[in-house]
Amino acid sequence: MERIFYVNGKYLPASQAVVSAEDRGFNFGDGVYEVVHWYNYQPFLLEEHVERLIQSASVIKIDLPWSKEELIDIAIETAKQNNLKDDYIYMQISRGAAIRQHSFPDSTQPTLVMNSQPSAKPAKEIIQKGARVITIPDIRWLHCDIKALSALANVLAKQAAKEHSVDDVLYDRAGVGVVEGGSSNIFYYKEGKLYTPPLSPYIFPGITRAKVIEVAKECNIPLEEKVFSLKEVLDADEVMLASTGYEVLSVTEVNGQKIGRGVPGDISKELLQTYTKHVKEACY
Ligand SMILES: Cc1ncc(COP(=O)(O)O)c(C=O)c1O
Repeated sequence: MERIFYVNGKYLPASQAVVSAEDRGFNFGDGVYEVVHWYNYQPFLLEEHVERLIQSASVIKIDLPWSKEELIDIAIETAKQNNLKDDYIYMQISRGAAIRQHSFPDSTQPTLVMNSQPSAKPAKEIIQKGARVITIPDIRWLHCDIKALSALANVLAKQAAKEHSVDDVLYDRAGVGVVEGGSSNIFYYKEGKLYTPPLSPYIFPGITRAKVIEVAKECNIPLEEKVFSLKEVLDADEVMLASTGYEVLSVTEVNGQKIGRGVPGDISKELLQTYTKHVKEACY
């Protein structure tokens, strides 16, 4: 069955789902997006993701003609039309189609596309053994807190991971420290305490990050938000990445060096188990 896309008011098969060649999403990456994980035909944290989509659009001054409720309804209908069980719904909004000029066009309707996408859960082997990552210099801009369509630096980062035959990257920002994973937030655990970088323009305020912070509290694991260096990551007992797709993924090797004992640790396992409990309560 062809996947069904929502495009500007219509539900269309993938082969007919098109936007204008003058769409500013295509010309400038001028837009924002979200991805939501469906489990057992139910969305997880849909409202939170839609709220963040609206917030991202507002930061880049896209005036949305859809209410939160309308966006939620479209996402649910797109999932239904695709009989979506354990996959993702992507929501992409651009400033719309207009003759090319960098500044905002005067009167353009934003473009809205929603589509299902197979989930990119890490392979079983990576979950069991832990992920291997490399650090790369963070060449991204100073608005990593916006979920922007323009993700070229992330594309190059993920390609670098592929070319080095590792599972992901960690962004190491000059003068700041290790800020996050290629498309995930980072946590490390050392001597009884969990650490994650504080919210700032250098990191994306992940919905999963917020959930993991909540889960850590529930598990009575002390947590501190602080900026940290690569040395601290390499010296950690455990390192983990958190995102909609990864959930909580243990990292057992950074730049060829083992983290802790080189296997997923107890804290990563506890956080993942408790996160999964939340998913089960919400979706099953
Ligand atoms: C750079 C970056 N950080 C963190 C995340 C995690 O965000 P979330 O937990 O909302 O999926 C993502 C997700 O795409 C990301 O691209």
